[in-house]
Amino acid sequence: MDRILVTGAAGQIGSELVPALRERYSADCVVASDIRIVAPAAAQQGPFEQLDCTKPEQIQEILRRYEVRRIFHLAAMLSAAAEEKPQAAWELNMGGLYNVLELARQHRCALFFPSSIGAFGTTTPRDKTPQDTIQRPDTIYGVTKVSGELLCDYYAHRFGLDVRGLRLPGLISHATLPGGGTTDYAVAIFYQAIRYRHYTCFLRPDTSLDMMYMPDAIRAILALMDADAAKLKHRNAFNITAMNFTPDALAAAIRKHLPDFRIDYEIDPMRQAIADSWPRSVDDDAARAEWGWKPYYDIDTMTKDMLEKLGAKLKPVR
Ligand SMILES: NC(=O)c1ccc[n+]([C@@H]2O[C@H](COP(=O)([O-])OP(=O)(O)OC[C@H]3O[C@@H](n4cnc5c(N)ncnc54)[C@H](O)[C@@H]3O)[C@@H](O)[C@H]2O)c1
Repeated sequence: MDRILVTGAAGQIGSELVPALRERYSADCVVASDIRIVAPAAAQQGPFEQLDCTKPEQIQEILRRYEVRRIFHLAAMLSAAAEEKPQAAWELNMGGLYNVLELARQHRCALFFPSSIGAFGTTTPRDKTPQDTIQRPDTIYGVTKVSGELLCDYYAHRFGLDVRGLRLPGLISHATLPGGGTTDYAVAIFYQAIRYRHYTCFLRPDTSLDMMYMPDAIRAILALMDADAAKLKHRNAFNITAMNFTPDALAAAIRKHLPDFRIDYEIDPMRQAIADSWPRSVDDDAARAEWGWKPYYDIDTMTKDMLEKLGAKLKPVR
């Protein structure tokens, strides 16, 4: 069985992708890695390596030792965190990706690279944003994502590297808190709704963005990597979406289960400006046509599941 390396595995996506990969293949063949050392319980579920993706020699050593053939490169700094530290964001998001691409080329590994709706900017058409369109992002996160998409395409056509990717929307999950993105409100709102029946949102009530529930995102990542290469015209940077809502609409969906839930707003100008530069919705027809993408969860089924799963581990604070 070919070995798999997951970078940034302790983050929001990795903490659910690693168990999914281990269930699908076997625990031994999925090497989780992160710059952070994970809790002993998580590390016991399969191999874990402390790995800093800005250090190519560390990546090289792990690829050699485990004879890795497939990499899921998740280590990155997210949009709001990156805007606070643009130089460090460039070093991790671009430097880390370059190291991984170059070593994937040398070791003949297939690679998954997650891009984002943040790869678009204010001059991009904002409704039903097409797969192939203007990409002039204003944030350092977006600059690293669009540059990353281009670098992945370059390695695919210049060196024949099998590198594939998705432009993920905001991800909603109950296992791990998000790592400093603009769509984090859509996770935090559930924690606060269960604990306090109240949430103060940092985006305007009418801010419309694409979102996806984590089980759909994990299915999408696995399906894209399984897809028949001959059918992929794009390979990299596929638009995908599952649902589209505003903070106001999400609060209304929560109120169907918790009628006394209240939301108010204290707008964070930095995160609002980022959200305002992103698409209100994207067109994912290319993903549907080329590898059969189809989401299972919409706002109501996701909300019900989030409240059930988080309700089992959080207590109301009254
Ligand atoms: N979560 C989302 O909503 C979302 C949406 C679109 C795209 N993405 C992309 O998906 C990828 C994973 O996102 P996530 O939400 O899991 O992020 P996250 O912030 O939750 O996790 C990133 C992980 O990378 C680790 N890390 C930081 N510096 C590192 C380094 N130098 N070397 C190795 N690991 C390092 C962190 O410790 C963290 O565990 C990123 O590329 C992100 O841009 C995420």
